[in-house]
Amino acid sequence: MNSLPAPLRPEIDALETSRIQQVFDLGLGREGLIALWVGEGDQPTPAFICDAATEAMKAGKTFYTYKHGIPELRAAIAGYTRGLYDIDCAEERVSVTCSAMSGIMMVLQAVVGPGDNVVVVTPVWPNIMSAIQIAGGVVRAVQLDDLPDGGFRLDLDRLAGALDERTRAIFIASPGNPTGWIMSTEEQSVVLEMCRDRGIWMIADEVYARFIFDGAGTGGPETGRKAAPSFLEISAPEDPLIVVNSFSKAWAMTGWRMGWLTTPPSFIETLGRLIEFNTSGAPHFQQYACLAAIRDGEDYVRETVERCHRGGELVFQRLAALPRVHMARPMGAFYAFFRVEGLSDSLAYAKQILEETNVGLSPGSAFGPGGEGHMRLCFASSTARLSEALDRLEPVLSKPV
Ligand SMILES: Cc1ncc(COP(=O)(O)O)c(C=O)c1O
Repeated sequence: MNSLPAPLRPEIDALETSRIQQVFDLGLGREGLIALWVGEGDQPTPAFICDAATEAMKAGKTFYTYKHGIPELRAAIAGYTRGLYDIDCAEERVSVTCSAMSGIMMVLQAVVGPGDNVVVVTPVWPNIMSAIQIAGGVVRAVQLDDLPDGGFRLDLDRLAGALDERTRAIFIASPGNPTGWIMSTEEQSVVLEMCRDRGIWMIADEVYARFIFDGAGTGGPETGRKAAPSFLEISAPEDPLIVVNSFSKAWAMTGWRMGWLTTPPSFIETLGRLIEFNTSGAPHFQQYACLAAIRDGEDYVRETVERCHRGGELVFQRLAALPRVHMARPMGAFYAFFRVEGLSDSLAYAKQILEETNVGLSPGSAFGPGGEGHMRLCFASSTARLSEALDRLEPVLSKPV
């Protein structure tokens, strides 16, 4: 119940506090806490990126600027995309946003209205579902299949069956948060074809594109790929495709709130209006930091991914060895999303784990259909910190729930 002086839109009134936030609120500030609940690493933004922001600020890059981003940054992002996937990508298709989240919000404002629906592959980062709700739309969840080995698979027939005449878009995050699932190029082709046929949007969230690990057949150093398969690789510029990306994860910039969208050229003008009325453009001096990240950050990204790979492997080796825990080796992103035998209230369990171990995990139920029964652990941390967390977690996870 709220006690506001005047009513809210019902969709806004119905928004729940995220379940991750509920655990976070309970534990934040505790002495000795090992927080592995949110989607970020334990490292601050590297100095070469911070320095670029400071220099730009001192040089007076403190004004309103181009709403789609400074031309140098748009060109650099387009060049990065071309290099990553060996494809063509015009800089006119790139728009710099104040975070991936802000980009997603604007895209949903553009395409979803009351009574419309968006088909979303779940479990998924909960903000996506809330953003659709805020836009007045309805979430149609298509759950990934839980495989016996703890991995995940998308049933394309079920996805097709979820579309109806009010569907405006399909939303898929790959590599996925929380599952680490990676969509194959073949699956992407089928889904993009569905979108073309029906004249609906494919919104591809590729913020974890650089976080791919070996053993999955889809990525990893031994395949020569530098990123997970992207919808950009199989599409033409005028396809109904919007790709969401972020500086948050690969360059440790979660607090900067910077991201970008790659869209059809014909969508850019509409997006420009939405940027104008939402944020009036991304922060001027921060864009120079993003430019440094793109231009000079490849070694840093490689080291970050390798570090996550080591963290993921450690967590996998130790958790998968517990008889009550089921998980597959992570394919991508930086989360262990593991099933715990007998678990039916993951929110209560996350609170219990916090009380008993002072380790912060996210409850699987936060991630929508298919999430309950699981817990999410972010392994973008040093192996020393993860080892300490695992030492504390193992006794609890070994007991019946
Ligand atoms: C799948 C997914 N998309 C988008 C984001 C948000 O990125 P940003 O920090 O740029 O808003 C996250 C953050 O956790 C995420 O997991």
